[in-house]
Order: sequence, then C-alpha cells, then structure tokens
Amino acid sequence: MKNLLALKPYLLGYKRHLGEGFIYIILTNIFAVTGPRYIGSAVDAMQESFRIEDIIGFTALYVLFALLSGFFLFLVRQKIIVTSRHIEYDLKNDYYRHLQQLPRSFYDRTSTGELISRGTNDLNAVRDFLGPGIMYSINTFFRLFFAIIAMLALSPTLTFFALLPAPILSYSVYRIGRSMQKRSKSIQESYAEITNLVQENLTGIRVVKSFTREEVEIERFEKLNLDYYRKNLSLGKLQALFFAMLTAMTAFSLIPVIWIGGMGAIGGKMSIGGIAQFIVYVTMLSWPIISIGWVTGIVQKAAAAQGRLNEILDTVPDIANGEKQETGEAAPGRGEISFRNVSFHYPSQPDIPVLKNITFKAEPGSKIAFVGATGTGKTTLVSLIPRLYEANGGMVMLDSRDIREIPVENLRRQVGFVPQNNFLFSDTIENNIGYGSPEDADPGRIAAAARIAMLDDDVRDFPEQYKTMLGEKGINLSGGQKQRACIARAVACHPKVLVLDDALSAVDTSTEARIFDALLEQLPETTIILISHRISTVKNCDSIFVLSEGTIAECGTHDELLHQKGIYYGLYNQQLLEDEILSLA
Ligand SMILES: Nc1ncnc2c1ncn2[C@@H]1O[C@H](COP(=O)(O)OP(=O)(O)OP(=O)(O)O)[C@@H](O)[C@H]1O
Ligand SMILES: [Mg+2]
Repeated sequence: MKNLLALKPYLLGYKRHLGEGFIYIILTNIFAVTGPRYIGSAVDAMQESFRIEDIIGFTALYVLFALLSGFFLFLVRQKIIVTSRHIEYDLKNDYYRHLQQLPRSFYDRTSTGELISRGTNDLNAVRDFLGPGIMYSINTFFRLFFAIIAMLALSPTLTFFALLPAPILSYSVYRIGRSMQKRSKSIQESYAEITNLVQENLTGIRVVKSFTREEVEIERFEKLNLDYYRKNLSLGKLQALFFAMLTAMTAFSLIPVIWIGGMGAIGGKMSIGGIAQFIVYVTMLSWPIISIGWVTGIVQKAAAAQGRLNEILDTVPDIANGEKQETGEAAPGRGEISFRNVSFHYPSQPDIPVLKNITFKAEPGSKIAFVGATGTGKTTLVSLIPRLYEANGGMVMLDSRDIREIPVENLRRQVGFVPQNNFLFSDTIENNIGYGSPEDADPGRIAAAARIAMLDDDVRDFPEQYKTMLGEKGINLSGGQKQRACIARAVACHPKVLVLDDALSAVDTSTEARIFDALLEQLPETTIILISHRISTVKNCDSIFVLSEGTIAECGTHDELLHQKGIYYGLYNQQLLEDEILSLA
C-alpha cells in the first residue's frame, strides 16, 4: 500500500476535479436512495387510497429521482474517470522522461521488453486504481451509508438480516477475484513471452532465413500461442462461474427480507409498500457490496504495479550533474583529453577489472589511436570520455578539468562519439545526420558533414538524396554506408573531440585508410581518438597506444612502435602477410 503514496502529488494536482467528483458522488447517492421511498408510497397507495393519480404521481417522482441520480453519476464519471486519464497521461510522460535520463549501466541490466511492459501493463493497473478504484470505493461508502440509514428507519431488524450475507458475498468476490487476477497475470506473462519471441525473430529474420529455421520458429510460436489460448479459456470459465454466482447470491440475500418482512406485514407491523421499498434497497446494495471485494483486488494489483514502477522511478541517474559541478556556460574548449591512473570495472561485474591504471594525454588537435586484441577494453576506455560510465579510480580530464566538474550536457556536446554498434533511426538521411544538432542543421552543414565522411557521393545517387527515408519505411544502407552516416552525424555537431570506435570496420582496408586520412586532414583542430584493428588506418596518427589486458602495453608513433618489436610489431607483420596473400590471390 505504501507504494501508492507515490501517486499523492499527482492526485493533489487534480484536487479540484476530484473534490467536485466527490460532491457529485454524494448527490447521486442521495437521489438514488430517496427514489425508492416513492415506490413504497405508490404500493401503499394501491392498497389504501386506490387513486390512480396518486400511483402515477409517486411513480413519476421515483423516475425524477432516478434521472437526477443518473445525471450526477454521469458527472462523477466525467470528473473522476477523466481525471484518471489525465494522471495516466502525466505518469506516462514522467516515466518516459525518466527512462531517457537513466544511465547506460541501467540499460545493461534491464531488458527493453520489461521496460515496455512496466509502461503499459503496470501503468494500466495503476490507472484502474486511480479511476474505477477510487470512484467505486467512495461510491460504495456513500451508497451503504445512505441506504442503511433509510433501511434502519424502516426496520432495524430487517436491516440486520438483509446485511447478514454481505460479508460472505464480498469475501467470496475477493477470493474469486484473486484467482482471476492470478490467471490474468499468467496470461500477461504469456503475452509478454509471445511479444518477445515475435520481436526478436522479426528483428533477426535474416539469421532465421539464412539458417532455414523458419519451421522451428513457427513451432515455437505455436506452442506459446497454444499456452496463451488455454490460459484465456481457463480465465473465461472462471469469469462465467463468477457472474453466475453473483446473481445467485444476490437472490439469496432477498430470502430473509421476504421471510421476516412478510411475517411483519402479515402481523401488521410493516406496510407492504415499506417491504417493496426495502427490497429495492437490498437489490440496490448488491453491487456496492460486491465491489468491496473487487476494489480490494484493484488496489492490491495497483500497489504491486506501482511498486515495480517505483523501482525504476527511484533509480537515480548515477551520472548526475554532481555536486562538484560549476554552473554557467563553459568556455569554448580546446579539446585536450587526459587520463590519470584511471581504473574501471563494469557495475555488474565488480570483481573483473577491465581497465587498470590508464594514463595518457591527447593534445588539442592531435590524432591518437588505440589498437589491441578484441576484448582488451578499447570501447570501455573511450566510453569513459563522454561519461557513459563513471571511472572507479583516477581521473578523466577535458582541458585539464575533471570531467565530473563539467555539466554532462556540455561535456557530451564537446565530444562527438561514433560507437562500434551503430544505430540509425527510421527517418530521412538528413534528419539522421542532423540528429545531434537540429537547431543549426541546415542542408549545407549536413552535406559538408557527409562530404567529410565520404558519404556525399553515395547520397547523391539516391532517389530523393538527403530526403531519402532509411530503415523500415525506406531504403537500407549498406554496412559501410551506415557507418559513414554515423560518422557524418558526429561530425555535423562540430565536436572538439571526436571518438571513432572501429567506425569503419565494414569497409575494405584501403577505403578505411583513405577515409580516415581525409578525415584527419579536414579536421585539423579536432582531437581525434581512433580505434581500429588495422595498422594501415592508425599508422599516420601522432601517437598509438597498444592495449593489452586493460593496460597500455606499448605507446609511440608507428615507427617507434615497429622498433620496439613488441605486440604492435607482431600485428603489423601479420597484417602485412595477409595483404601479400590477398594480393597474390
Ligand atoms: N556492459 C558490459 N558489462 C560487463 N562487461 C562488459 C560490458 N561491456 C564489455 N564488457 C567486458 O569488458 C571487456 C572489454 O570490452 P570492450 O568492449 O571494451 O573490448 P574492446 O577492446 O572494445 O573489444 P573489440 O575489439 O572486440 O571491440 C570484455 O571482457 C567484455 O566482456
Ligand atoms: Mg570495442
């Protein structure tokens, strides 16, 4: 229940609407409970005054009160249910905003499917509480309150007997409700499984096809689908039983009223009109009594859902704009990067050090490179520069300032980053390249960035040039074109520091070297940090660092490193040999 306290500020934000809804609930119930009195009077008139005018008059009054009650019920829904939609809208926005602010490490440990299901299923459960949950609780309270007063005025004994079955009724609704919830939860889980399977399969359809696994995948789907279908049937059965039972139980609660009330009428203690009125109250109360059990279920479900949402909402972006930070605009940087004794391990694996005592410096405008075998920590090292992860020891500095003192936004604006696993949106080429700097992404600037990344010529051949759509709704770029688009996207922001993590692995060796040589030449003032497996690409850099098992094993210029006859020398000879073999072939 404590979990639901997180909703308090949202509810308070709509307190006027909710307050009005509250007043309308009281009004609708006063009218609903007043109406049946005229049924009693009409029945009594049939026996006493025998005047049809009286009977019609009383009935008309009953209809009038029923209409008034209905009108205010309409207003109740307008206020409370509509408010719950407003709050749902706010909650969704806040949830998405929060997701955008969470750090990389959060996404390393949480699956996308889970985040989507929190934002849909769990948020729906919370909304059920905010709308129907709150509305029916208040309504039940006032309906019981006013109806019981009216019933007590008619006959306290009869009231006692009429309410006798109520606790059993609401408890059984609660129990059946819980088992229905269990089943629907398991249906939801099945559904999530199916969604995951379909999503992953369609994304990886090329792999499925190339390994001719279609039949196997179809079978897997059919199995999950069958499971889902069976669970739905079992829920359907329970629901059918539930509604049948409710009708029966309401009917049972009439028995004591008829019995004891009937004896009272025979003995002349009660008028027949009074009993008629009483019967109307008993039927009128059956739904509120049922809804006690039902609402309890909604509240429990919402509390669990909000608990899961709170887990995410309470995750603070650990790379927050820290206390150390200065405010105000940063002076235009020079683009000097230095690492001082930096060590790092991934938050999920504190026992495995990935970087150990890394120290190096890249002068403003210099071009440096990292090489090394796969898994030695090159990507990890460069991820620390824009603070995608936080170093565990030592210090990463930009222009001689600890990067933790620089507002993250400022820092990231100065560091252009082309990740190893690139990603483009289903949008035009133009919007993709201008993604990081939309405010000044004029066509000239975008074309200039594309020219630097040597993508311009390719784009000119496309049907709609820079307006060509990519991805699902448009064309697919080749691997190398995609990588060059990602480079153009980083270059278009005019960063002071440009990090290229194996950014051209998809093009052939000589093209990679040609593009990078041009890039180094055209961006003389930009500090470039290059990662590549190819010696031909890095050999013109000012300094080259060889990583091995998370430490810098060798460093120097290409010639110096060759003289050292170490790891770099070995790599060089191996690649030379490969080239020779290729040229012979
Ligand atoms: N998100 C992560 N969580 C935990 N461990 C990770 C994570 N990313 C990478 N690692 C581990 O850190 C080590 C270094 O990985 P990294 O990606 O930095 O290597 P790399 O030098 O870039 O390799 P490659 O040349 O293949 O790109 C590897 O052992 C890898 O398993
Ligand atoms: Mg890497």
